[in-house]
Amino acid sequence: MSSHELELAAEPAPAKPERPRRKPAAPEATVDAPKKRKRAEEGAKAKKEPKAKKKDKKQKKGKKKAKRTAASSDRHELYQLSVQAPEVDATFFAKYFRKITGEPARVLREDFCGTGYLASHWVTRHRDNRAIGVDLDAPTLDWGRTNNIGPLADHERERIELIEHDVRTVRTAPCDVLAALNFSYSFFETRDELRAYMTHVKQDIRPGGLLILDAWGGGDTQVEQEEEREVEDFYYVWDQHKFDPLTYHSDCRIHFRFKDGTEIRNAFRYKWRQWTLPELLELMAEAGYEDPHVLWEGTDKKTMEGDGKFKRVKRGEADPAWIAYVVGRA
Ligand SMILES: C[S@@+](CC[C@H](N)C(=O)[O-])C[C@H]1O[C@@H](n2cnc3c(N)ncnc32)[C@H](O)[C@@H]1O
Repeated sequence: MSSHELELAAEPAPAKPERPRRKPAAPEATVDAPKKRKRAEEGAKAKKEPKAKKKDKKQKKGKKKAKRTAASSDRHELYQLSVQAPEVDATFFAKYFRKITGEPARVLREDFCGTGYLASHWVTRHRDNRAIGVDLDAPTLDWGRTNNIGPLADHERERIELIEHDVRTVRTAPCDVLAALNFSYSFFETRDELRAYMTHVKQDIRPGGLLILDAWGGGDTQVEQEEEREVEDFYYVWDQHKFDPLTYHSDCRIHFRFKDGTEIRNAFRYKWRQWTLPELLELMAEAGYEDPHVLWEGTDKKTMEGDGKFKRVKRGEADPAWIAYVVGRA
């Protein structure tokens, strides 16, 4: 367990006969930022995998899949299903890197990689792709080695390495793209700490390569509230437990709820500083990156949710909950 990421009672909670009723879905974009990416991935999958869908139907006819419960579930699997979209991220990084450099991105380093889900996907995209994941939590890395790297083909497995280390001190082979996603750099709570991280990792990004961070914000991210979203046969709950406007320190938690009334409370907990876009851009420049800029997500006019399309912008919109990428060139 990392010193930053406290894992509270990951034990399944006993069945509660009267679980609080689900909140109705928010009418507009919600604080649940990763939802936007998740939805985009689902859309992409639906287009790409019609055959797999048919097979699923056949399987369903034969044997009904048991419904998840707290006791039968694995929090890492639920996390991946709820908030990660490696296909979407990887496709975007590859396209954006080519657009900026004219070259293909071949080496990806995923900092704060957790289970290495993105890194594992990266090596399946091209026979020359390599991936390095760095995280300091050994059990989480081990889960990823078993569940994400294990199922890869031999030639893919040879091109990925998960390293147990602090991202602030690790040195790795040079990469084309260094990504730190799901806002994990927010563990660094002072400007000095975050600048030092950016400066340190620049040594391992090839000249001209990209540092890509995702960022979140908007008024709704500073409200203490829980937001619930249905994923497959369970509910993902993003709990903005505390927010301090003086320090921008927040205490956020993830819970999972199940249709039988059981729950995994505090499956993950993050003590984070919320960083603003100007701060991230300024720190990137101070750390020596060229041309720090923001890629802003467009809005789907029908759903008023993020549409998964990110464009370079100079001005944003006062969206109550937005996500963006912040990019700098090493
Ligand atoms: C929010 S999870 C991110 C998982 C995944 N990358 C994603 O996009 O969802 C944060 C991860 O950062 C790791 N972490 C926190 N501080 C770290 C540090 N200083 N060095 C390396 N990993 C760290 C934790 O162990 C945890 O696995």
